[in-house]
Amino acid sequence: MKVGILGVGHIGKTLALALAKAGHEVSVANSRGPETIAAEVLATGAEAVTAQQAVKDKDVVILSIPLNSIPETAPLFADVPEETIVIDTSNYYPQRDNKIERIEAGQVESLWVEEQLGRSIAKAWNAIGSASLAKKGKSAASPNRIAIPIAADRKIDREVTMKLVNDTGFDAFYSGSLKDSWRQQPGAPIYCTDLTLKEIEAFIDTAEKERLPIRRDIAVAAIAERVGDGKTNPGADYGVRLSRALYL
Ligand SMILES: NC(=O)c1ccc[n+]([C@@H]2O[C@H](COP(=O)([O-])OP(=O)(O)OC[C@H]3O[C@@H](n4cnc5c(N)ncnc54)[C@H](OP(=O)(O)O)[C@@H]3O)[C@@H](O)[C@H]2O)c1
Repeated sequence: MKVGILGVGHIGKTLALALAKAGHEVSVANSRGPETIAAEVLATGAEAVTAQQAVKDKDVVILSIPLNSIPETAPLFADVPEETIVIDTSNYYPQRDNKIERIEAGQVESLWVEEQLGRSIAKAWNAIGSASLAKKGKSAASPNRIAIPIAADRKIDREVTMKLVNDTGFDAFYSGSLKDSWRQQPGAPIYCTDLTLKEIEAFIDTAEKERLPIRRDIAVAAIAERVGDGKTNPGADYGVRLSRALYL
């Protein structure tokens, strides 16, 4: 498939490496231009392009940028056909994204993203930490393979997103429609806890919506205390231990 990825940070870079390695034709872009994209992002065959090129004539576009940068990408999607599958990896962290009143008031994050872009999206790869995504992928049918939840409203979005998640080394768990995708937002039992398919099935319905932001903010404070700033991602083991202690 022709896959465009906007954002080559912790998550976008790993997706570019894995999807190009799996045989997809991958184009990547950031906000500053193709010449600023590190060679390591292109190591398995992805091509660095402009943001306009990353969304043009693609089967799939993956958005892997901070949630509060999503509105500024909306003009890029004006000519992107409805059939193109757009998959968003974002999460809302008020400490990073500034407060977004609609989400603070309870709007589901993926529905806010859909409103900003004015089109259908799927949500995937948001509920795994970057260190786990980079290091813990396994081939299909490996024992104890970690699963990643995906939410989508359209059948085609669901099917293609599940296939791509599999191509990145993880089982795909269909968590339902976007309106229910708060169950994979920060603070939820299946968020960054590295569960298998069976474990996700067991835990997904234990989420309590009003408790998620409280637990998310406790995790942010614990990570900031440990790594010393609000930007560094914790190592895989610490991040998963913390998420399991707080969210499960
Ligand atoms: N880190 C994690 O463990 C993790 C896990 C799951 C989901 N997520 C979510 O996935 C998203 C990306 O996270 P991340 O940690 O990968 O972020 P990151 O490391 O901060 O990287 C962000 C990337 O987005 C690019 N970008 C920002 N604005 C852009 C724009 N308008 N057009 C094109 N590119 C733009 C940046 O490019 P420039 O440098 O050129 O601005 C950079 O390459 C976030 O919403 C995050 O919440 C993160």
